[in-house]
Amino acid sequence: MRLPLPVQCWLACLFVWRVVADNSSQPIFIFRSRPDLVAPILSVFTRVPEKLAPGYYFVAPYQQIQETIHIYDNEANLIYSGFGNVGPGIIHAPQTCMYKGEAHLCFYQGVQMAGWGHGHGLIMDKHYRIVQSVEPASYQASSDMHEFKVIDEGKSAVMTQYLRSVYDLCRWNLCDGLGYIQQGAFQEVEVDTGKVLFEWRSLEHIDPSESYVGPSTTEISGSGEQPDSPWDYFHINSIDKNADGDYLISARHVSAVYKISGVDGHIMWRLNGARSDYRLDDFSFSFQHDARFVSDNATHTVISVFDNGSNGFNTTQPYSTGQIISLDHQTKIATCLLNLAPPMVDGHAHLAKSQGNMQILPNGNIVMGWGNDAFWTEYAADDDHEVVFYGALAWTNVMNYRVHKFDNWVGLPLTKPALWTYSKQGEKMKLYVSWNGATEVKSWRFYGTNNDTAAKSLSQSQSKSKGSNNDNDSWDLLHGDDAAVPKTGFETVYDHTPMYRYTYAEALDKNGQVLGASAVERTYVPNEQMREYCDDLACRFMPNSAEREHERQQQAEQQREKERQQEEERLERQRAKARAKKNAEIYGGTFGGLAVLIILVIVLATRNFVSRPVHVLAQRVWSVLSSTVAGGKAGRGRDADLGVGVGAGYKALAPDDQEGDRAPMINDPS
Ligand SMILES: *[C@@H]1O[C@H](CO)[C@@H](O)[C@H](O)[C@H]1NC(C)=O
Ligand SMILES: *[C@@H]1O[C@H](CO)[C@@H](O)[C@H](O)[C@H]1NC(C)=O
Ligand SMILES: *[C@@H]1O[C@H](CO)[C@@H](O)[C@H](O)[C@H]1NC(C)=O
Ligand SMILES: *[C@@H]1O[C@H](CO)[C@@H](O)[C@H](O)[C@H]1NC(C)=O
Ligand SMILES: *[C@@H]1O[C@H](CO)[C@@H](O)[C@H](O)[C@H]1NC(C)=O
Ligand SMILES: *[C@@H]1O[C@H](CO)[C@@H](O)[C@H](O)[C@H]1NC(C)=O
Repeated sequence: MRLPLPVQCWLACLFVWRVVADNSSQPIFIFRSRPDLVAPILSVFTRVPEKLAPGYYFVAPYQQIQETIHIYDNEANLIYSGFGNVGPGIIHAPQTCMYKGEAHLCFYQGVQMAGWGHGHGLIMDKHYRIVQSVEPASYQASSDMHEFKVIDEGKSAVMTQYLRSVYDLCRWNLCDGLGYIQQGAFQEVEVDTGKVLFEWRSLEHIDPSESYVGPSTTEISGSGEQPDSPWDYFHINSIDKNADGDYLISARHVSAVYKISGVDGHIMWRLNGARSDYRLDDFSFSFQHDARFVSDNATHTVISVFDNGSNGFNTTQPYSTGQIISLDHQTKIATCLLNLAPPMVDGHAHLAKSQGNMQILPNGNIVMGWGNDAFWTEYAADDDHEVVFYGALAWTNVMNYRVHKFDNWVGLPLTKPALWTYSKQGEKMKLYVSWNGATEVKSWRFYGTNNDTAAKSLSQSQSKSKGSNNDNDSWDLLHGDDAAVPKTGFETVYDHTPMYRYTYAEALDKNGQVLGASAVERTYVPNEQMREYCDDLACRFMPNSAEREHERQQQAEQQREKERQQEEERLERQRAKARAKKNAEIYGGTFGGLAVLIILVIVLATRNFVSRPVHVLAQRVWSVLSSTVAGGKAGRGRDADLGVGVGAGYKALAPDDQEGDRAPMINDPS
């Protein structure tokens, strides 16, 4: 899908010279206090703050630099990056779950295969420690990525499994060797013991002839001819459980949703697909995903599904939608109560050819993740379902299986706040502070000292114990006592003058209680040589060798250009000088000539009509004048040849006057 360049302005960031993995298609944050984190910027197209449901968005984008959990708030600030914290492997669908009476983070983690996964479920506490892993127990000790959902207050979890086995594929013209099939299965497992409480396998209930995706027809169908490419005829992709203990599952390659008895696993009803028990009343869905119970009673079941509308090959809708479907168990008619479309941008809308989800929030708002496109939308609860949030983690390549929003997450990391301090000249300073995952920090307090002994002793006492600072005499608070610095975004930046050589930061909660303190940080002041690459914010990143070569060439080019200009200026100066002379001569000649003319006129005019003394006087004046003018550089004209000089300027000069530095001017073609 094509989008106009985001509403966001792409700042030309002087000090962001290093290009990190195509920052224009996958914009990445730079946090000075956490150079280890490469977290996607959540670009926002629409945001109506007052209509957003409270809480955070939980995502795990993949096919990007750091494939891990990312949590964002309603202002699109990063709250948490799980990089290096949640372990290796791809993570899908992180969400909060109740476990041992507290909100935990639950997610699948494993190895990504072509359309399925091998992994397990993980549970992390509020200190971001993995406290439990959940494995299915069958002949294959791994779960699949499509669902890991902790239910029943954390007592059990439902999880999908993709099980491959030998199968007779003669009906699909694969009869000259062993055929392999992938069946969809799921288990409910007791979290603390690993005991399997319920197990269901598709081949026992749904015949492969119900599939719409034959062997070797799509990129994830599998060929059925090799054990590593089993035919994925079913493709289970969600599991939900209702209060009665029955399950709702969705399977993509049969385009159907099933209700499964929690007692014996029999299919209670089928919706859509080859053998639907319900007639779809003037709507359709296909290759759907994320089927959830909304309500369920004897007469009606209401469910939500994310209708991908396409598997990238066959399309039943022009774009993906979120559907709320009501099944009438008496009339056997299914009605679509809501068909929520993605925002139209430039005539395009998301058609998630894979993945995607729909979550109805407690306040009625709906969150839809566009899966294959790492975009998501939040809709208001009102009747026209106004789009109140629309944002993206990347424009291309990056995918995000599901997006969820929860308002019960409290993160109290065991790490220390991270501080980086900088001063370009040693006068004013900048303090960059952050604390990955700490949801309760509301403000920061900064302390500084120039006393090496005090800095060292606090550093030592910090590393020995969590002990607080007992040497407040040596440390100055960098701002008024009550004026803690409000936390702004993931990383708070604070300016202070004068610079301190050592600083540390304290994180405060909403009551002003100290939640944690950073280590003592020595302020980074670039040396003389380095300084030209620094501004007031920081110094630029080290260029790589290609950038360095480019820069070298640019500098050489600039140097050449400078020399060229200098040469040009030199020539220009020379020309200007020559022109000035020329002009001076022209004007000098003209004025000289004019003076001669005037006097000549006077002399001539008076010769015959005025008395002799006047004439003599005039002649004297003339001779004085002419000798004065002739004495000057620009002078010309002698008493000889007066007539010739009249009105002719320098052209009329006598040859013996054409000396000295006048010659170049005459030769100058300009
Ligand atoms: C990526 O671009 C955004 C602006 O679009 C900028 O804020 C950010 O610092 C850039 N990140 C990197 C790593 O260059
Ligand atoms: C069953 O659910 C439907 C749909 O939510 C609702 O309209 C109906 O009143 C419910 N019936 C009972 C008996 O609760
Ligand atoms: C697409 O639809 C056609 C016609 O219904 C069917 O024969 C084919 O198997 C479908 N392919 C996929 C990949 O769904
Ligand atoms: C939607 O995406 C999910 C996740 O891959 C998949 O299981 C489901 O079948 C997809 N449907 C389509 C149409 O691709
Ligand atoms: C530096 O701090 C130590 C205590 O850590 C103190 O004893 C000393 O007097 C301080 N020095 C100055 C110059 O303030
Ligand atoms: C020093 O300041 C810290 C942080 O404000 C405080 O917890 C501690 O009680 C103070 N110590 C003294 C001796 O004043």
